[in-house]
Amino acid sequence: MPSLVNTEIEAAVKGFLIDQEKMTEVVERMTKEIKMGLAKDTHSRAVIKCFVSHVQDLPTGKERGKYLALDLGGSTFRVLLVNLLSESDVEIVSKSFNFPVTLMSGSGKALFDFLAECLSEFCHYHGLENESLPLGFTFSFPVQQQGLSKGILVAWTKGFSCEGVVGKNVVTLLQEAIDRRGDMKVNTVAILNDTVGTLMSCAYYHPNCRIGLIVGTGSNACYVEKTVNAECFEGYQTSPKPSMIINCEWGAFGDNGVLEFVRTTYDKIVDKVTPNPGKQTFEKCISGMYMGELVRLVVMDMVGRDLMFHGTTSERMQERWSFKSSYISDIESDAPGEYRSCNKVLSELGIVGCQEPDKEALRFICEAVSSRSAKLCACGLVTIINKMNINEVVIGIDGSVYRFHPKYHDMLQFHMKKLLKPSVKFELVVSEDGSGRGAALVAATAVQGKAKL
Ligand code: BGC
Repeated sequence: MPSLVNTEIEAAVKGFLIDQEKMTEVVERMTKEIKMGLAKDTHSRAVIKCFVSHVQDLPTGKERGKYLALDLGGSTFRVLLVNLLSESDVEIVSKSFNFPVTLMSGSGKALFDFLAECLSEFCHYHGLENESLPLGFTFSFPVQQQGLSKGILVAWTKGFSCEGVVGKNVVTLLQEAIDRRGDMKVNTVAILNDTVGTLMSCAYYHPNCRIGLIVGTGSNACYVEKTVNAECFEGYQTSPKPSMIINCEWGAFGDNGVLEFVRTTYDKIVDKVTPNPGKQTFEKCISGMYMGELVRLVVMDMVGRDLMFHGTTSERMQERWSFKSSYISDIESDAPGEYRSCNKVLSELGIVGCQEPDKEALRFICEAVSSRSAKLCACGLVTIINKMNINEVVIGIDGSVYRFHPKYHDMLQFHMKKLLKPSVKFELVVSEDGSGRGAALVAATAVQGKAKL
């Protein structure tokens, strides 16, 4: 079938198309950065920080008990109660709270007071106010952990910029907010990254799971490293435990300029309008927070050059961030030659009277952005697998992009296979309840660790 897409539009998205050679180059550069993050001598100037999570035990299935969990870091905020009853019976009750956008850039105190208020409402609703429950806090931002229950926020990401939190121990900030209320007996025993919760939760059912990946609002991965290689962990040479989960914080890859060869002019525009320009370069090429805006910018450029929508568009489409990343998943869900979801998206955006070539062009732009995301993610996973030097691995994955994009899983798998040695076998598995079961499992480790002392 002859392409309906104008050659000038094809030329405009060329920058998003990265070939095998470039992907191999990404893997090479990322390998170097990960090694820098792990090593004591180079850690301070490394961009991929490879933070030590202080989680050294994968689940055994023997963990029991009732735990609370908080989940902050994506587009929703949740409170959960997790009851690990037996190996096969885990009860989870949760509530999502509307997270006012104003809190994302307000004061840190307002943020943590809000978290404590939601937690209190949840505890009272479930009659838990008098129970002394341990809490696992899934806090999905770059945190330098000094223990399971101590973590200093290094920087905000994903549009957050609350004052007075960077440089502070977020566990203390949360616990103080809980204690200020004086209406519950909750004790924050562990802080964890969402990738770690995802890995732990997946490892509960898939013992071979060694990597946790998030492709949602943000993107990041963690993996199981040999403790002796986790040089930033004080006990890296003496610890009796052979493994340490490393929170890579790969979103920051490229912040030193090494990814310019896969970036486009559109990436640079998106970067400029974020609260953290120059930061999270890799994440801004991959994750759901930015993909939609990238598509919108390309479309607006094409409209400006009279190549789409007869040179005019709606007011809504002119607004920054109006093109949600979920639209990309919707548009790419239509079968070839069909435009049911596409029409719905266009009508939500107030764009009327589109012809088929416009819709084809829109799909083409979406595909360019989502396939670059999947290719870069594949590069990241391949880097980690090669670094681990293993021949078989399960990767636990969560996040809206991976879950809802119709082709993301297949693209990821396809490109990983092309980059990996043929002897390496891997499986990509959706990981359920990272911030529930995963957080409870980490909290269980913390409680058991204390009990032994
Ligand atoms: C954060 C990570 C997190 C990822 C996925 C990034 O912006 O820095 O800590 O794991 O988003 O939520």
